[in-house]
Amino acid sequence: MNDTVRIKNTGLRGVTVADTRVSFIDGEKGILIYRGYRIEELAEKSSFIETAYLLLNNALPTREELDTFEMRIRAERQMPGYVYESLKQWPKLAHPMDVLQSAVPVLAMADPDLLLDSRDANILSAIRLIARIPVLVAAWHRIRSGLDVPCPDEGLSHAANFLWQLTGTKPDEEIARDLDMCLILHADHTFNASTFACREVVSTRAHMYAGVAAGVGALSGSLHGGANAEVMRMLRELEAESDIEGWVKRQLDRGERIMGMGHAVYKTADPRAEFLKKMSSRLGKKLGQEKWYELSSRIEDAALKEFERRGKSAIKPNVDFYSAPVYHMMGIPPDLFTPVFAMSRIAGWCAHIIEEKFAEAQDKPMLYRPSTEYIGQYCGLMGCAYEPVERRS
Ligand SMILES: CC(C)(COP(=O)(O)OP(=O)(O)OC[C@H]1O[C@@H](n2cnc3c(N)ncnc32)[C@H](O)[C@@H]1OP(=O)(O)O)[C@@H](O)C(=O)NCCC(=O)NCCS
Repeated sequence: MNDTVRIKNTGLRGVTVADTRVSFIDGEKGILIYRGYRIEELAEKSSFIETAYLLLNNALPTREELDTFEMRIRAERQMPGYVYESLKQWPKLAHPMDVLQSAVPVLAMADPDLLLDSRDANILSAIRLIARIPVLVAAWHRIRSGLDVPCPDEGLSHAANFLWQLTGTKPDEEIARDLDMCLILHADHTFNASTFACREVVSTRAHMYAGVAAGVGALSGSLHGGANAEVMRMLRELEAESDIEGWVKRQLDRGERIMGMGHAVYKTADPRAEFLKKMSSRLGKKLGQEKWYELSSRIEDAALKEFERRGKSAIKPNVDFYSAPVYHMMGIPPDLFTPVFAMSRIAGWCAHIIEEKFAEAQDKPMLYRPSTEYIGQYCGLMGCAYEPVERRS
């Protein structure tokens, strides 16, 4: 088998397409690193805003740099009125990921730095996107529910302000800190499908928002960011199920997947899942909702046993398996789970977009242009004879 045969039609698994300085995964050992730092340490000691700074700037900020960055993000939460006015015109049943994907170019129109294609201008655009995506997600939920959108509160942290604008109630500090931790854990993940989509789009010299809109589209699929909402659907369906082992077997016999399990890169436990599992247990106890943790653990145990029996012991819970019950307990509606993922991944997307645009990990920017092998109809180089439609049988 030659090299071409081995890499085509494999979803690019195992194919290295670029260098990056943004993040690193050791899939065998279950390690995820952003710009040199282990995510466990960032989740415990950092904040999402500090992690976003790290991803964008390749170094942790000084106190002064962090304060300035955070102040800018808080100030950029204010969106032009026409963004809200246009959201109000959209069908109330639209999926929040479709709304987000459509709203990103609307935000582009409000960005004065859009066409200044310098690194500094792209950082300013990244700050606006990081600040405004949570506001958009919360605003859409309020608008579709027929409620007023609370003004952003500059006194609140990133996660706390999101919960405030979503629910209209000032959140519990511990819950806001937990959400912040979730945002840190989801902020980057090397060349996943959505990041690759962002990078591919900006490799054409399209602007940052065009790349991000493509990333949002890629994230919406159920094999990627959409999995967390599917996990919640599964948990809801199984709330009253006593035979979890039987359900897992039937699911796999039918060729269905257990959502929130398996990973294209991790061949051992996903380090983010371990963290979220503990958070799910802790939050369940705090909020008197231990049933979600208990149910997820039972599904996990049954699935691991069944995967082992079928010779697929590398399939383990991924980041979505325990983030779903965590978000549910925080009062976030299931169809907003993937938009919440986007609120976090925007930091990684922007870091990768800047790396791609400014060739920060390669000699010069390169347009992505892979090749394919044509296996369709072929009548020779002169082409097939074109029959007018009336003569076709
Ligand atoms: C994420 C995912 C696409 C990665 O898959 P992958 O390792 O690249 O490999 P494939 O999709 O080719 O799957 C390989 C095999 O494992 C099986 N498999 C992988 N994940 C599975 C799951 N969650 N449930 C059941 N079977 C699974 C596939 O059916 C396939 O079996 P086959 O070889 O008999 O056809 C896959 O694990 C999945 O679909 N998971 C569920 C969705 C999810 O949670 N996505 C979020 C990812 S963070």
